[in-house]
Amino acid sequence: MTTLDLPGQLAVLPLAHCAGGAGRATGPYPDRLKPILSLAAHAEAMTEIGEWPGYAPTPLVGLPGLARAAGLGAIHYKHEAGRFGLGSFKALGGAYAVLRLLKNEILRRTGQHASSRELIAGKFADIVSGITVTCATDGNHGRSVAWGAQTFGCQCVIYIHATVSEGRREAIARYGAEVIRTAGNYDDAVRTADADAKTHGRFIVSDTSYPGYTDVPRDVMQGYSVMVEEALQQWPEAAPPTHVFIQGGVGGLAAAVCAQMWERLGDARGRFIVVEPDKAACLYASALAGAPTAVHGDLDTLMAGLACGEVSLIAWEVLAAGTHDFLTIPDAAAVDTMRLLADTPFGDTPIAAGESAVAGLAGLLMACSRPRLAADLGLGPDSRVLLFGSEGATDPELYARLVGRSAEAVEGGAQ
Ligand SMILES: Cc1ncc(COP(=O)(O)O)c(C=O)c1O
Repeated sequence: MTTLDLPGQLAVLPLAHCAGGAGRATGPYPDRLKPILSLAAHAEAMTEIGEWPGYAPTPLVGLPGLARAAGLGAIHYKHEAGRFGLGSFKALGGAYAVLRLLKNEILRRTGQHASSRELIAGKFADIVSGITVTCATDGNHGRSVAWGAQTFGCQCVIYIHATVSEGRREAIARYGAEVIRTAGNYDDAVRTADADAKTHGRFIVSDTSYPGYTDVPRDVMQGYSVMVEEALQQWPEAAPPTHVFIQGGVGGLAAAVCAQMWERLGDARGRFIVVEPDKAACLYASALAGAPTAVHGDLDTLMAGLACGEVSLIAWEVLAAGTHDFLTIPDAAAVDTMRLLADTPFGDTPIAAGESAVAGLAGLLMACSRPRLAADLGLGPDSRVLLFGSEGATDPELYARLVGRSAEAVEGGAQ
């Protein structure tokens, strides 16, 4: 596909590609991965989250003009900006893990099985109000944990690292959490949150897993599966997606998408491609090395939600088995793609997407404009691509600076 007339520099910016392990394996979703993510655990997440006030599926937006221009059959973009009023898919994960944690504590202390409804009604307030949840965040996860804590009635302390914007800090504080800014990068903030939790007896609700800490991040990922299931229910084409391009931070989102699609669709799940910023490509580095591998430095990508130097271990187990390709892209590609979605030169519905939401689409478009890579990835007129636009303009000031106008102006007040 060489005719794609891409705005900005998408056709010439550098892109790196590494083949993943899924190229060597076929068959159904492996039993060994079910303790991490499964349709059985998904059913519980769907039931609980479906009961939360304000639950509604986010839209799956077709981009037929862009698909035509890119030489593809179809592109569908799951637009997560409206998720529970929090602006991103993360609303599903952190808050769900807070709920699971509180339910487990109530069960341990009283022998009773609590539901979302009972917690929201304040039935176990005497127990829950004495519990403090905590985490480190680049913004969106902390917002979800803080919102979950407020919704279910417990206390919350959130850690943000040096480069997290003031707008993102305020968005977390709005849900009643204490917000602490630390020196260093995201991974340093994770370690500080961990140490303080031990000192003060807080419960860590992290979206990343490490040795000895896997239960909560598994619940976080299982919460995300609600978004994936919605997309599969909304999918309007006669046949399933041939490709999924999904952005990666620690890999939790990608693993949730991979597992849900794999267990639901088996061999028909299509090609699964993970896209990361080139300044924070820990999944790509792990794919190259064939084992979890950290990348170092200040990870100062504009794609704040993807600024992670260490993979989540349990997410990596799923991705190592289920990913066909890993791509890395530069920040400028994300900016061009945000503008493309806002300006819609190909006549599609305008979308206000945040910096971290567009990496998957940026990777797709960059691949389409490189004939060898497009052929390698099997991209062409029969391709039906599913994308997860994981956030709206969660940092409104930054969005307006990058795109030239506000999210409201782009979407005509829809956001
Ligand atoms: C908007 C957005 N997209 C994608 C991601 C990546 O998710 P994960 O870290 O689970 O890979 C994040 C993480 O914070 C995010 O905020």
